[in-house]
This record gives sequence, structure tokens and C-alpha cells, in this order.
Amino acid sequence: MEAALWTEKYRPKSLSDIMDQEEIVSRLKDFVKRGTMPHCLFAGPPGTGKTTAGLCLAHDLFGERFQDAFKELNASDERGIDVVRTTVKEFARMASLTSVPFKILVLDEADNMTGDAQSALRRTMENYTNTCRFILCCNYSGRIIEPIQSRCALFRFTPLPEEKVVESLHRIAKNENLKTTEGGLKTIVEVAEGDLRKAINILQAASSMSKGVSEETVYQVVGRARPTDVHEMLNHALKGDFLKARDELRTLLVKYGLSGSDIVRQIHSEVFRLAIPEKTRISLIEAIGDTDFRLVQGGDEEVQLSALLAHLAAQSSVHRSVREEHVTALDR
Ligand SMILES: Nc1ncnc2c1ncn2[C@@H]1O[C@H](COP(=O)(O)OP(=O)(O)OP(=O)(O)O)[C@@H](O)[C@H]1O
Ligand SMILES: [Mg+2]
Repeated sequence: MEAALWTEKYRPKSLSDIMDQEEIVSRLKDFVKRGTMPHCLFAGPPGTGKTTAGLCLAHDLFGERFQDAFKELNASDERGIDVVRTTVKEFARMASLTSVPFKILVLDEADNMTGDAQSALRRTMENYTNTCRFILCCNYSGRIIEPIQSRCALFRFTPLPEEKVVESLHRIAKNENLKTTEGGLKTIVEVAEGDLRKAINILQAASSMSKGVSEETVYQVVGRARPTDVHEMLNHALKGDFLKARDELRTLLVKYGLSGSDIVRQIHSEVFRLAIPEKTRISLIEAIGDTDFRLVQGGDEEVQLSALLAHLAAQSSVHRSVREEHVTALDR
């Protein structure tokens, strides 16, 4: 059962298990308590619990009869106007067989539906309100046509705060008997940016690579070099030690399996963190742009990146001679 996705394995089943999104959870719990709800629009970034909240709401409302009263159409299903006229309508018009008078239909990624399909959906929502409540999930509520928006209660999901992501990762790691380092988890949290699905997926991928999840395994999984490694390479070059810088470069290419453009992109973001004169920074950014262009044109990765490092090293000797001149001037 190694293949089971942790995002599914650890997906909450009840509203009480949802992390964060407190205001939303309390509004949804209130629907359960009162046994009634409006059509809903769940909007917000990926991996923040929209689909999960729909499932949990249905579980809490329908209990054992969940299967009879809940349907989810996700992004992989066809979602043109025909589906709205057939599948959606078919489900929506049939009376509920549970003690709750309505059923729930979740339409994932509703913002990818065509305008025509949305218009058709609007009529279906109106016609079958007695037997079915709709939950539309989307990343951007602005892409949902106004008449649908005005018929739905809006719930805005927000990225999960760092401490909640860490808490969730800790719990899973414990349950899976996984060794993690603080740096490893911190890196996952940084990369995931409040997307819990992404965080859990990285943890699972890293765990399948090695027994412990450390900063290094995480960077390998996400196809990025550790910023400190890139930083070190640049520092060697800037100190004029071209050979050392080139060794570091080779390590990055091999150890992390990065492409030339990946490394160029990381160098580009590191350049802004280097303590160097503005003039040097500008010249570096120009050189990085040239390297990027040559790589796109099909230039050899190692040759082009070495050339970039050589350029940095040459810059450094310019600095040094400027500095030396300065020192001699002072000495005089
Ligand atoms: N608030 C949350 N509480 C607990 N688990 C969560 C939460 N948000 C996300 N997850 C975890 O991440 C996975 C993905 O969440 P979910 O499918 O609800 O995201 P989503 O908001 O619908 O994203 P998308 O916009 O990509 O559809 C879930 O299976 C669950 O494991
Ligand atoms: Mg979803």
C-alpha cells in the first residue's frame, strides 16, 4: 500500500478535523446544525481545503448515507454545456433519499467552465434548488459569472499559516515513522507557500528518496539547489577563485540533477542578496541574461555556466585592483 497518496490518506473526514479556515468551518458547522444551507462558492488558492470542506460538510450532514446524497465532478470530467444538461441535471433533479431534504453537488474548478456552461448551470441551480445544493470551487471568484455569484454564499479560503503546515507535516511524519529535520520541514513550508497539498506531496516524495527528510532531500525533490550552495559558488567566483566555483557548479549539476536554466534562475535570485556594489550587480544581471539566452538557443550547459562564473571571477579582479588602488592611495 506504499502507493497510497498521503493527501488522500490524511484528508479530514469531518469539519472538526479541518485545519485553520476557522470562520469558514464555523459557518459550515452551523449549516449542519440547522440541517440547511444555501448554494456556496468556495474560492481561494490551491491546496487550502476547498474540496475537503465540501466533502466534510457532506459527511457531517449525511453520515452513513453519504454515498447516496453526494456527488463531485472534478476537473478531469468533461464540463461543457452537455454535462450540465445531462449529468448535473440528472443528479440535481432526483429527490433526496436521506433524512436531509437536499443533496450536494460539488463542482470543482468551476472557474474553468465556459460561459455558456455557466449560464446553463445557473438555470439548473434555480430549477432544482429544492432537491440539490451546489458547491462551486474555484481559485478566482471573478471568473464565475455574476448571476451565479449572486446566488451563492461566498467563502474565501486563505493559504495555511506556516505553523499549521508544520503541525500537519509533524503529525504525518510521526504516523509514518519518518525522521525529519527541522531544516527539512522548514524548507517544505517555504516552498509550499500555504498550499497544504503541495507540502504533503513534497514530504511524501522526499520520504521515498531517503529514510530521513532533510533540507537536502527536500531541495532534491523540488528540483532546486540549496540557496546556500548557490551562494557559496557565487562567492568563490567573486573572490576570484574560478576553479572552486566551477567545482561547485559541477556538484550542483550532478547532485541535484538541475538543468542549466534552473541554475541560472537561482543565480539570478541570489545576485540580489549578494553584498556587492550596484555597478557590479548590474553587470552581473546582464551577463546572466546573456547566459540564459544562449542556453535557450541550445548552448552547452556546463560551458555557458562556466563562462558566466569566469565573468564573475574577472569582475572580482577588477574590484580588487580598484580596492588596491584605493588602499595605496590611503597609504600615501
Ligand atoms: N484546511 C485543511 N485542513 C486539512 N487538510 C487540508 C486542508 N487544506 C488542504 N488539506 C490537505 O490537502 C489536500 C488537498 O486539499 P483540497 O483538495 O481540499 O484542496 P483545494 O483547496 O480543493 O485545492 P484546489 O484548488 O487545487 O482544488 C487534502 O487532501 C488534505 O490532505
Ligand atoms: Mg479542489
